[in-house]
Amino acid sequence: MSKTAIIIDTDPGQDDAVAILTALGSPRLEVIGISAVAGNVPLPLTTQNTRIICEWANRQDVPIHAGCAHPLLRPLVTAEHVHGKTGLDGVPLHSPTMPVQEEHAVDFIIRTLRERAAGTVTLCMLGPLTNLAMAIVRAPDIVGRIKEIVMMGGAYFEGGNITPSAEFNIYVDPDAAATVLGCGAAITMVPLDVTHKATTSPARIAMLRTLPNRAGNLAADIMTSLERLDVQRYGINGAPLHDPAVIAYVLQPSLFSGKRVHVAVEQGSELTLGATPVDWWGVTGKHPNVNYLTEIDAEGFFALLASNLATLP
Ligand code: BDR
Ligand code: CA
Repeated sequence: MSKTAIIIDTDPGQDDAVAILTALGSPRLEVIGISAVAGNVPLPLTTQNTRIICEWANRQDVPIHAGCAHPLLRPLVTAEHVHGKTGLDGVPLHSPTMPVQEEHAVDFIIRTLRERAAGTVTLCMLGPLTNLAMAIVRAPDIVGRIKEIVMMGGAYFEGGNITPSAEFNIYVDPDAAATVLGCGAAITMVPLDVTHKATTSPARIAMLRTLPNRAGNLAADIMTSLERLDVQRYGINGAPLHDPAVIAYVLQPSLFSGKRVHVAVEQGSELTLGATPVDWWGVTGKHPNVNYLTEIDAEGFFALLASNLATLP
């Protein structure tokens, strides 16, 4: 079976870590490279965390590229209050030895899309969209070469998680999000509306802990840390696993359903900056620009994570 070629763009981030491990564990994905961006924590930490995660998976062969240290037009907002000071709360961290590539992440994205056959590379976007927006602005020819952009971001029915109206990844760089949503490529959006329907539970975490490898236990420890915070802070039953849903969608889209709709991004208002109004009923008459996911088979999702994590060391 031929593999799906992906680039992962990420800001690890606890849920990013589980997503990256899941992708590296999948025999059906070719991870061409990973680009880091500033988001949950500043760029030096997201780059370092990406190296740590690849070393957990024993995948020192995966090229890691550091990208943009700041959003396009605004100061960086981070999320240590969720992911901890290092960005990877809940697990012991080592000093990674694998290298960071000299090539900037934006150049890497442009070069890869130009080198690979058109329509063969899927972009898995797990953080603010700064790197991709920069690549699109610098090299608009790449848009027609993208197979699909699958991006974790946005919220509509569920409300926001960083402000009442905005989801974190979009809020951090709403200008980049607007560039990406308007670029014309095929886009699947994985918003809070779907990730909040697949939360961790003691039974789901226990299932990962029974895997006879390090990756299963790392994922279980990360989820335990996330769950503790979400249960304490929001009084909900478990923690949403936002970014792994991107990888799961690429691997098994039948686990999800949604609707083709038009989504815009608020770039002006102080009150609702980063909000992603979804034209669910087509009242604007605007052409749909995304496949907006709202439903997930949660049991199937956790089973998919477990089966891919099981192949790792
Ligand atoms: C998104 O924000 C980050 O904190 C997570 O890693 C995820 O990508 C969820 O809103
Ligand atoms: Ca993320």
